[in-house]
Amino acid sequence: MRLTPLEKLTTDMCKDDNTIKELIIGRRVGFYKVRGEIGCGTFSRVKLAFHALTKDKVALKILDKTRLDTQAQRLLSREISSMEFLRHPNVVLLYEVVETPSRLHLVLEYAGGGDLHNRICNEGKLSDTTSKITFAQILSAIKYMHNINIIHRDLKAENVLFTSSGCVKVADFGFSTRVSNRNKVLDTFCGSPPYAAPEKPCSILFIYSGEFGGSAG
Ligand code: ADE
Repeated sequence: MRLTPLEKLTTDMCKDDNTIKELIIGRRVGFYKVRGEIGCGTFSRVKLAFHALTKDKVALKILDKTRLDTQAQRLLSREISSMEFLRHPNVVLLYEVVETPSRLHLVLEYAGGGDLHNRICNEGKLSDTTSKITFAQILSAIKYMHNINIIHRDLKAENVLFTSSGCVKVADFGFSTRVSNRNKVLDTFCGSPPYAAPEKPCSILFIYSGEFGGSAG
């Protein structure tokens, strides 16, 4: 019997020794073949991967479940639940979540053009025209997420990615929250310390800074 490519791939994942070995050692995650590291955070690493059949590139955010404390688990579950709602051309899309006994993998839309922070560091300030085009796309993403009651809470140049064709993709919803009432002011002082507004914090949430503690609102 002739198998379709998808049937062959799924059969290989159960029966082919080489494919099974790659799945066990993390060289494959679900239908994706994993390649080199393209980023890392406190609790996660991001690797480039591509779909074994379509060859589409994705960014694989990999989290070691054994290293997640209660707060990191709460933030991760918010990241996933926010991203499940988000569907906008200027927001990184979450394709799927793949769980193994030790790890969680967020399969994300790949933005291969680097981030805004690096671009400014490497190339200097953006031209007025590029600034306008970039800013309009960031605003479009923010307007969209606020309209569906999702607040990013960690907007910074590092989280503004570009595709290889220069389209903006807002990324990293690890601090995001969903609000039931957009008129209620959030009072958790959170995000990245160098970008924090100077107001007096009510409660503090800086995940990667050992100096701060607190709970997310
Ligand atoms: N680094 C973190 N997330 C990414 C993404 N979605 N695309 C490319 N690089 C990334």
